[in-house]
Amino acid sequence: MARPGRPCCSGSMKATTTGTAPATDIRRAVEDAIWAPSVHNTQPWRFGVRGARIALCADGDRRLDASDPDGREMLISCGAALLNLRIALHARGHDTTVRILPDPDRPHLLADVEATPGALADDDALFLHAQIRRRRSHRGGFQAAPVPPGLLAAFRDDAGRDGARLIQAVDANVQGALAALTNAAEHSRRRSPAHTAETARWAPAPGTRRTDGVQQGAYPRETPRTAPHFASRDFARGHGWGLAAAPAEAAPGAVLLLVTPADGPAHWLRTGQALQRVLLRAAGHGLAAAYHSQALLVPELRAFIRTTFCGNAYPQLLLRLGVPDGEPLQSVRRPVEEVLFDDR
Ligand SMILES: Cc1cc2nc3c(=O)[nH]c(=O)nc-3n(C[C@H](O)[C@H](O)[C@H](O)COP(=O)(O)O)c2cc1C
Repeated sequence: MARPGRPCCSGSMKATTTGTAPATDIRRAVEDAIWAPSVHNTQPWRFGVRGARIALCADGDRRLDASDPDGREMLISCGAALLNLRIALHARGHDTTVRILPDPDRPHLLADVEATPGALADDDALFLHAQIRRRRSHRGGFQAAPVPPGLLAAFRDDAGRDGARLIQAVDANVQGALAALTNAAEHSRRRSPAHTAETARWAPAPGTRRTDGVQQGAYPRETPRTAPHFASRDFARGHGWGLAAAPAEAAPGAVLLLVTPADGPAHWLRTGQALQRVLLRAAGHGLAAAYHSQALLVPELRAFIRTTFCGNAYPQLLLRLGVPDGEPLQSVRRPVEEVLFDDR
């Protein structure tokens, strides 16, 4: 994604806290929104508040230059935050009108969200809202029990609501091929100084005071073996960091590709919203997702996966989904004041 000629949103970093009910609701909704997943926990978003309108902006300084030069994963992350924002406003009795990429001259202005008084939230919105702060990414194996087919069907419906599609790799050969491509991409990245430097920047050492990045409570010291085995990102980089006591072997879970019919910023934002709806429903049923996007960051491998396994749809994320083994992993967020500003 091109860096913008002028900032997405101007204004001071002071939050709007006028004490009116909508201002309070909007601030709380942003506090929920930031619990979205983001690549390397970069939290690449800012929220400009003007009355009942919220401008969601990408924070281009937090884009991963080496692995995500187009900002595709940055926008997927922001799309997940957008879905949280919509659900959080809805749960507080507001309808939302969302304009995606409303200004072509300001590519980092991703969405304009207007909150208006609405109907009481339905049970499903309240269910999803309750999962926003409970959901965690997983980086290990899963319990052996398969994901119930009814739940997978619900996830497919969820993905479809925001214009994406969830494809399950059921065939063991397809799963094996996706695992092999993931492993090849991961190991080639580990040989690239630019990629290892980027991982180091976003995986701080234990004891850090940072409130972003993938920290040692967020991954196991040793990744349990699964069959097939999908390589994890190398956050510890040989330092022996990470949580102890992961089981030695585990099941891979359901292997899923989240795809869109076309590519580009609007589809990346759709992907993020679809992802987050699936993840929230999964969390509500005790499930979590592990991400293996390495192969999709290599253009040749992404093109191969697209034509071979996605019927020419554009693969945006490769996930494994299941009931996690062990304790939930930890995650951190920046204080909301760092991302919320007055957009008047
Ligand atoms: C677009 C995207 C790509 C991601 N890719 C990976 C990945 O390849 N490996 C991984 O371990 N986690 C990946 N994650 C998960 C993030 O690292 C995680 O969301 C972040 O560390 C915050 O943790 P939490 O989701 O538990 O709150 C990805 C997340 C997003 C949104």
